[in-house]
Amino acid sequence: MDEKIIHHKFDVIVIGAGGAGLRAAIEASRAGVSVAMICKSMLGKAHTVMAEGGAAAALANKDPRDSWQTHFRDTMKGGKYLGDWRMAQIHAQQAPDRIRELEQWGAVFDRTPKGLSSQRNFGGHTYPRLAHIGDATGLELIRTLQQKGIHEGMEIFMEYTVRRIFKTDGKVSGCFAYDRNDGSLHVFKGKSIILATGGITRCWEVCSGSWEYSGEGHALAYWAGAEMGDMEFVQFHPTGMIWPPSVKGILVTEGVRGEGGMLTNSEGKRFMFDYIPEMYRDEFADTEKEALEWVDEVVSGKLATRRRPPELLTRDVVAKAINSERDAGRASEHGGAYLDISWRDEDEVKKKLPGMYHQFMELAAVDITKQPMEVGPTAHYVMGGVKVDPFNQESSVPGLFAAGEVATGLHGANRLGGNSLSDLIVFGKIAGEAAADYSKEQQDYSEIDQLEIDEVVNETLEPLSRQGGENPASVVNDLRVMMQNKAGIIRTGDLLQEAMADLDLLTERSKSTSPGGGRVYNPGWHQALEIGAMIDVSRMCTIAALRREESRGAHTRDDFPETDHEHWGNINSVIWMDDNGEMKIDFASYPRIPKELRSLLDSEDLHEEE
Ligand code: FUM
Repeated sequence: MDEKIIHHKFDVIVIGAGGAGLRAAIEASRAGVSVAMICKSMLGKAHTVMAEGGAAAALANKDPRDSWQTHFRDTMKGGKYLGDWRMAQIHAQQAPDRIRELEQWGAVFDRTPKGLSSQRNFGGHTYPRLAHIGDATGLELIRTLQQKGIHEGMEIFMEYTVRRIFKTDGKVSGCFAYDRNDGSLHVFKGKSIILATGGITRCWEVCSGSWEYSGEGHALAYWAGAEMGDMEFVQFHPTGMIWPPSVKGILVTEGVRGEGGMLTNSEGKRFMFDYIPEMYRDEFADTEKEALEWVDEVVSGKLATRRRPPELLTRDVVAKAINSERDAGRASEHGGAYLDISWRDEDEVKKKLPGMYHQFMELAAVDITKQPMEVGPTAHYVMGGVKVDPFNQESSVPGLFAAGEVATGLHGANRLGGNSLSDLIVFGKIAGEAAADYSKEQQDYSEIDQLEIDEVVNETLEPLSRQGGENPASVVNDLRVMMQNKAGIIRTGDLLQEAMADLDLLTERSKSTSPGGGRVYNPGWHQALEIGAMIDVSRMCTIAALRREESRGAHTRDDFPETDHEHWGNINSVIWMDDNGEMKIDFASYPRIPKELRSLLDSEDLHEEE
């Protein structure tokens, strides 16, 4: 092989530079090991910024009744009891400290009149729990971590795409990446790797993520032999922009509903009252009068005594309700629902939701202080990902750790809004600490098999030599449309079978795309390489969705509309690649929830015998 390869060596390699990656890198650097951070985009450009409305933590600043126990209960319930209770407990207990730490590092949270960091209501959270910075919380979190991180001494490789994780004697030994700007080729030796690559939602046509979100982290783990869990659960955030078409999918923060935003249909009806699930009936107002009384209490700074408005139900419920209203012929003008916050004081709206005010003004010529927004579901988050040890975030591959959206466990069948930012900082820290410890225990760097390096170099450069094939972008577009239509918010066995067949055809097409051009600044080449990951993660979601013959959380089967507690109650899907490169699926359960934690949950929801 006469290609020039640039070699690097680091104790810990962090792949991904969103909230989880940055928090992990800070912790690993502080432990005194050398740290590389490899990111596909510019540092700071991460989907973390799309968690706009806040970070969930039971600080009890706005409502003293809140506690980690209630946060634990809300997370398990919101995830329809499919989450790993150990992660839910660690998360609920540690999130407050991680938020206070961010404050110490300079994050400028909005304040209560007493000077504490303010907290707002969000779907599925019993109390106002989301510490926020207007509607730009993720952005401020990234800014703070970035500023802290660069002083800890990590080395940053921006605009590099990782193509393979190497293993030697079954353990992680490094990775291969190429520089997206100049096409140079890089081998990183590493004693441990932390995947913090975020999610996969670019595999759907309408999504809140930008181009980086093509699922390579999930694919890298799978190709390296890691077990993947719960891949059928993809969250459609209920409120993305739907008009004009050029901005379809861009997020409209749940903070709008947290601040009192109401959802109505084409008949002007506040329809969420018709969609309160049995398990939430005691917690949500079933009349407009009670919902308005709750808002009055909250707006005037009192502790809420009324039940919450149904717009604050969990995302799975609200997204499906908007979908059902559309199917019943009661959609807004462009096929979604109306979301109205204009009844609140204009200055308050501009102060609490400045980003939304500007976003709608500039992109849709809508003044949200005077008119309703038009919104509809947008693929936003995947609950599934790399299966990890809840106490150290290590995957089933020794030396490979994962944190944040690329990992699974915390959110079960549906994530509560705001639980992602707290997930990133809680489990990012744990992963950073554990990966540093692991690296210190290793004697030396392992040798990487030269044949494997040659193989991945060939694979990476091969698309550039193809002539006369179709544009990779058309394969990617067809994949996204197909996943939207056949493995989207509402699924059936027939559609999912079709999706499986389509994925085989797309695989064939992807092998002969021709990006044209050379290695320098060639987005077509990047796309030709990304397709393989996009197809594999789409296949994981489709297989798991096909096998789960029930509806639960974010997974809705029209042909199996009920939640089947008897057969699927605590069953999690597990996917892996066998020695022949075939995708395999099986099912497993987390350990039983211990008695003292079960007592925090709503016993009638568990559908279990004592
Ligand atoms: O709606 C939002 O602001 C998104 C938050 C999240 O996904 O956690």
